[in-house]
Parts: sequence; C-alpha cells; structure tokens
Amino acid sequence: MSSSAFRFAFITDPQLGMNSPSGLRGPGSDKERFDRAIAYVNDNDIAFVVLGGDQINDADNEHTDEELDILEESLAALTVPYYGVAGNHEQLGPGDGCKYLDRGLPVRFSLTHGNLHMIGINGPWLRAGCGDEWHQREWDYLTSQLSQIPAECNHRFIVMHYPLFYQMPISTDDDLGMPNHAKIIDLYEAHGITCVLSGHLHQDMDARWRGISLIASIGTAMSVHYPEEAAFKVITVFEDGWSVRRVAVEDG
Ligand SMILES: [Fe+2]
Repeated sequence: MSSSAFRFAFITDPQLGMNSPSGLRGPGSDKERFDRAIAYVNDNDIAFVVLGGDQINDADNEHTDEELDILEESLAALTVPYYGVAGNHEQLGPGDGCKYLDRGLPVRFSLTHGNLHMIGINGPWLRAGCGDEWHQREWDYLTSQLSQIPAECNHRFIVMHYPLFYQMPISTDDDLGMPNHAKIIDLYEAHGITCVLSGHLHQDMDARWRGISLIASIGTAMSVHYPEEAAFKVITVFEDGWSVRRVAVEDG
C-alpha cells in the first residue's frame, strides 16, 4: 500500500444466535465465524472495524444476555478500534428499553480517517419502520452529520443496516430495503456521498445508483436468499479511490 492508503473491515450481521446449531459457543456457531473475522483483522494491518448491525439475533428473550456476553467478549479481543450501527435484530421499539443499548453497544457513529469520512446511522429509525417521530429524529441527526463532513474528505461513506433497495425495478414496496430511498438518495447526492455500506440482506450486493456505490455484504452468520459463503468485507482506501474484497469466515 502507498503511505496514505489504509484498510478497514466491514463486518455485518454476525447475528450471534441465528446459526449456531450446536449452541452459542459450540462448533459451527456464529461466534466461531465472528471470531475468525476478528482474528483476521488483528493479523492483517487493518485500521479499524465497522459493524453493520444485527450483531445479535434476539433483542429480548432468554438468549439475549448470553448473546450480548459473547458479543462483548469477542469484541474485546480486537486490537483495533471498532464502530458500528444497530440493525433490526438487537433493537426493540424506541422507548421500549433494550438490553443492547443498555450495555452501551454502538448504534451510530461518525469518524474521519485520512481522506475518508464515514457516518453510521440507525437504519430502522431512518426507514420510518418505528414511526414518523423517530424517522424525523434520525433524519435530523443525519442531516446535521452530513453538514459537518470535512471539505477535504473526498471519500464520503454512509453505513446503515438496511440497503436503499433490494428489488429491481426499484420500488417503494421493498420489504428488505428502505421505502423512503428516493428522499434519502437525494440527500446523499447533495452531500457528495460516494458509497453506502449495508447489511440486512445476508447476501452481497454491488450496485451503483445516481453515481453512488451501494454495497451490501453477506453477514458472518449465514446466507438467506441463495448459496454464498459467509464473509465480511475489507475495504482499502487510496488517495483517489477504494476497493472492496470479501474475506470468507467458513471453516475450511
Ligand atoms: Fe440480519
């Protein structure tokens, strides 16, 4: 890499508890695959980690405490900083209380690293799935963050759990995407966003819309729609561009 280039990892949908047939800590568990991603990060000169949401599978049932314990244990092994957004699986309705939030685990962030600025937002609120009031709060947060992007940052990334769309043609009836994608893409375009990183689909997506790269990553838990090896992304950021590659976390 050139002297100014760096790498970061985008790990989404570890969804601890989704695909652990021999127990949360057993062979073939979500923890095992998530820990492989973390070990890779520690061994490969990666500057930081961004979590894309659905860190655990169960927001509030008999498995939640152990899933959160495992999440915190696994993250504690990281030797680099981590940031993240929440997905739909770790949150209850706003105001209902939430064990994930109670532990101070990440929901939103913004960071600048070299010539990259990245804003992470709470996708379930932004897509208005929790009602108009919470949508407006997230929208206000997002617009205020967008207005603070340093002018010198030519790479401007958004991280949100839900992709803007999943179906073609792009439709407002997209259960897996953001029904309000038209309003959001207008805002991103106005602020020169260059890339949106998402999870939620449990499959890879590599699209481009209105000049913005829309990249969704399969999680480390499992594929849902078609066969694909569980993986995460390593993004290398150069002065004038960036590249994305997948790193598999399946055993053997
Ligand atoms: Fe998920």
